[in-house]
Amino acid sequence: MSLHIEAKKGEIAETVLLPGDPLRAKWIAETFLEDPFCYNRVRGMLGYTGTYKGKLISVQGSGMGVPSAMIYYHELIQYYGAKNLIRVGTAGALQKDLQLGNIVLGMAASTNSAINNNTFSHSQYAPTANYQLLQQAANYANKMKIPFQAGNILTSDIFYNDDAEDYKVWAKHGVLCVEMEAAGLYTIAAKHKINALAILTISDSLVTGEKSSSKERESTFSNMIEIALNIT
Ligand code: HPA
Repeated sequence: MSLHIEAKKGEIAETVLLPGDPLRAKWIAETFLEDPFCYNRVRGMLGYTGTYKGKLISVQGSGMGVPSAMIYYHELIQYYGAKNLIRVGTAGALQKDLQLGNIVLGMAASTNSAINNNTFSHSQYAPTANYQLLQQAANYANKMKIPFQAGNILTSDIFYNDDAEDYKVWAKHGVLCVEMEAAGLYTIAAKHKINALAILTISDSLVTGEKSSSKERESTFSNMIEIALNIT
């Protein structure tokens, strides 16, 4: 039992899928895993372990933003021995050619996160995905004919940005989309020499102002989860 997770040692798999939303963790476990059991209810941040094609897999909610998510990443790695952490979540498109429901694999996560600024004394660390996980995700998506883009993403501390133009400098430098956790994940995974990848589904666009309905979110989420479940 760690501070924020009440599972016993051994109850959490080496591969953990990490949606921000705990109810999404419940949905993933109940929809995709066999015999899922809930190992965490602390703070309502639900976590489940079950099997997928005979492999033990866990799904743990992380909350929104780098500070919340890093608490769960840290405890999963340090107390429960997690080896493959795969973030699954939504992102806002920063490029015109990314449509709602499209999938993005985060090769690198640029960030304005205060945590990384403090860790690296305001020098610029480049948080990157694990190459093998990235390659396996791309191979699986190609095999299943699931379209995706792979590239640089932005991990932002700010969801409601007063400056509606702020995203444009990132967009101009090729950043595909914005979310709020991946840079923290890639950084802590690198520190502990474990594997991490963020697989994202576009839920809104900062370019066009479009947003997916909750029905659309559910149907497009399945492709992303299928990729995540088939790469370790
Ligand atoms: N900003 C940050 N995180 C997000 C967004 C966004 O527009 N959409 C989904 N996650």
